Amino acid sequence: MALETVTSVEHLRSAVADARSANRTIGFIPTMGALHAGHLSLIEAARRNGDFTIVSIFVNPTQFGPGDDFDRYPRTLDADRAICDAAAAQVLFVPQHEDVYPKGDQTRVRPGPLADGLCGPFRPGHFEGVCTVVAKLFGLVQPDVAYFGQKDAQQVAIIRRMVLDLRMPLRIEACPIVREPDGLALSSRNAYLEPDQRRRSLCLYQALTTGRDMLRAGESVNDAVAAMRERLERTSGVSVDYVSVVDPDSLDPVTDTKSRLMVAGAIRIGSCRLIDNVLMDLSVDRE
Ligand code: PAF
Repeated sequence: MALETVTSVEHLRSAVADARSANRTIGFIPTMGALHAGHLSLIEAARRNGDFTIVSIFVNPTQFGPGDDFDRYPRTLDADRAICDAAAAQVLFVPQHEDVYPKGDQTRVRPGPLADGLCGPFRPGHFEGVCTVVAKLFGLVQPDVAYFGQKDAQQVAIIRRMVLDLRMPLRIEACPIVREPDGLALSSRNAYLEPDQRRRSLCLYQALTTGRDMLRAGESVNDAVAAMRERLERTSGVSVDYVSVVDPDSLDPVTDTKSRLMVAGAIRIGSCRLIDNVLMDLSVDRE
């Protein structure tokens, strides 16, 4: 079945109703476009699950802060459509602004303490914007399963909590981070990197894997964090938002090593902000 590009809520609802009457589960991949192999892996996960697969593209203004990159966020609809088509998604939903934020819109979904750490303090209001738009998109699409990339681990944790707290009838599936061969996590924002910045951006993954290896070797959390910070700070032109070892569920920083951990960091290079994380389970992968 060829990809259908849907730009109205009525058209979306009738496509979803047809899929439901054919007993299909609805798999949903919300995106802001500028699709890459990371998004492709989410579409493939939905297809593997046998879902009627809907991808949305909406560059959501409420999750960008005043100095953020809303205006220059890459908008590549034709290329995105080709990716969705090649990956055999059934629907590409491209809502209009008013479909998501109707005239007079007032309601916001405010996340709890999961949004307080990691990226939270550096992007005030960001996760409220994410929760609000994702709740609206879930209301529009009414999926059975929604697929997100583990690169945005804090976003995934917050959305899982929102789904639980607001009793939304769907399952959240987190898919592994897709990386370039040298380790850089794929992100639509990588397009902002000049060749020299692209080379230096690797310090983030290198720092996180250094931290992971130290923890695996039995070194302390403090020493791992110090070594990661040192690795980042000695890279010219890089400023560090944070580097941290946290519990992967609560996202609380840990001071003592425990079995499941997430090593996470965020840096800025030029005008580009990059995040990444590495999950570890010391009960199975201690050296
Ligand atoms: O991860 C993203 O691309 C966005 O935060 C999302 C989930 C599509 C909401 O705008």
